[in-house]
Amino acid sequence: MNTPIKAVLMGAGNRGMTYGSYALEYPNKLKFVAVAEPIKRRREKFAQLHHISKDNIFDDWEELLAQNKLADVAVICTQDQMHTRPTLSALEKGYEILLEKPMAHTLEDCLKIVKKVEETGRILGVCHVLRYTDFFNKVNEIIESGRLGKIMNITHRENVAWYHYSHSYVRGEWANREKSSPMILAKCCHDLDLLYWFVKDLPAKICSTGSLSYFIEENAPEGAPKYCVEGCPIEESCLYYAPRIYIDIEPIIQIVQRSNKRFYKFLMKLRKDHVKFLTYLSKIIPPLKRLRYWRDWPVNYLYEDEEEDYSDEIKRRILKSSPYGKCVYQSDNNVVDHQLVQIEFSNGLTANLTMHGFSESEGRTLRIDGTKGTLKGEFMSYGENITIFDHYTGKEEIVFQKELDVSGAQHGGGDYKLLDAFIKTLTTRETASLTNAREAIESHIMAFAVDEARLQQKMVNMDIYHKKLNDI
Ligand SMILES: NC(=O)c1ccc[n+]([C@@H]2O[C@H](COP(=O)([O-])OP(=O)(O)OC[C@H]3O[C@@H](n4cnc5c(N)ncnc54)[C@H](O)[C@@H]3O)[C@@H](O)[C@H]2O)c1
Repeated sequence: MNTPIKAVLMGAGNRGMTYGSYALEYPNKLKFVAVAEPIKRRREKFAQLHHISKDNIFDDWEELLAQNKLADVAVICTQDQMHTRPTLSALEKGYEILLEKPMAHTLEDCLKIVKKVEETGRILGVCHVLRYTDFFNKVNEIIESGRLGKIMNITHRENVAWYHYSHSYVRGEWANREKSSPMILAKCCHDLDLLYWFVKDLPAKICSTGSLSYFIEENAPEGAPKYCVEGCPIEESCLYYAPRIYIDIEPIIQIVQRSNKRFYKFLMKLRKDHVKFLTYLSKIIPPLKRLRYWRDWPVNYLYEDEEEDYSDEIKRRILKSSPYGKCVYQSDNNVVDHQLVQIEFSNGLTANLTMHGFSESEGRTLRIDGTKGTLKGEFMSYGENITIFDHYTGKEEIVFQKELDVSGAQHGGGDYKLLDAFIKTLTTRETASLTNAREAIESHIMAFAVDEARLQQKMVNMDIYHKKLNDI
């Protein structure tokens, strides 16, 4: 049996728990030996699941790093604005790092991290999980095979579903750029990373337009209270009425109803149209409680922990004061709700990226036009497929297909494959492209340039950004 890589976790929230699940599933690959997390229930739960000794449980990452080095790797899953200091300190302490994206929320901090990685000679992986999905690996493989000829243009869309956008970017953690990071960095650094990976060249010029124009106070219906449950006059018809999302789980019903799996569709019909009957059934068949009293995404954001009370009454009470209960037109949000980006790479290839928060389903769609062929891809919550159209033969071929995954595997399976790749790098010491901090920062540099281009309404020449990177 292999000896697992030993790790410490900073931030036992959603992402931390995901990487924790990997360690529980593959105990011969990864073992968490310490945790730092200020929320008691999360901290205790993580410590209990991973059998972490009392001495290695901390309220704060600083306390953890004040100890002698406890493991090989520090997995840093704190929120966006809390990445730089733990990363720099952990590098100094001798840890290799797995760092959630974005590396940091400012360019200066990203540069500091790259500098420190290079000074210390440590490995740092950034969690650009999409690179590890079967879907995007297939796209990259097709590009590299030359089947499409010379790539001339890429059109990539990040279609954020209406329910995901309102949950995360109007009511949630990433709604306010001063508290987290600009939308283009928070959500699209994955997409910019994919473009950089596909093109294999540096961006030369960038411009962008976009704004926040829908989820604003002017669009609030007359008489709408600050919190949905305070008696909103349009609660029967509002798409974003909080109980519809967090109690009736309309997003989950919509996602699953688009699948081909009859049984899951049936369960969702039961949840939507026969909730009283389901309540009764769940008393006789306890596993149905999971469906009746939903506790996974997005409802888990209302709670600190899975063990709490997920009844409708308690959820309703939480929605009276939680940010997730706020009217979407009267929230604390200021990140864009739609944005366009145009990029010209040094090799002349042009690409555009559209991000918007009004999609019927969640996912990415893309089209890559080369001199010999055209690739069309859908990486959506309802399924994935890639087709290639050969310009010479005039024939189209489906080269990749995957149905809706109801297993709960996140990011098309990318989360676990990212860990596999990171662990492989640690054991072989062969730095892969994603564990090269200079490569990982490229998507961030692009995001900061896009933000500058949009805010200042100008075309940004990327030389200035690359000079900053080269000067560190
Ligand atoms: N790779 C991806 O696709 C992906 C997806 C979602 C989120 N993210 C990123 O992952 C990071 C974490 O996101 P999340 O959804 O898990 O957030 P989260 O809020 O669920 O988790 C963050 C955790 O950090 C803890 N924390 C706060 N202060 C701390 C401290 N001083 N010491 C230790 N822990 C502390 C919080 O209590 C919380 O439990 C964010 O930067 C986010 O942008 C990445």
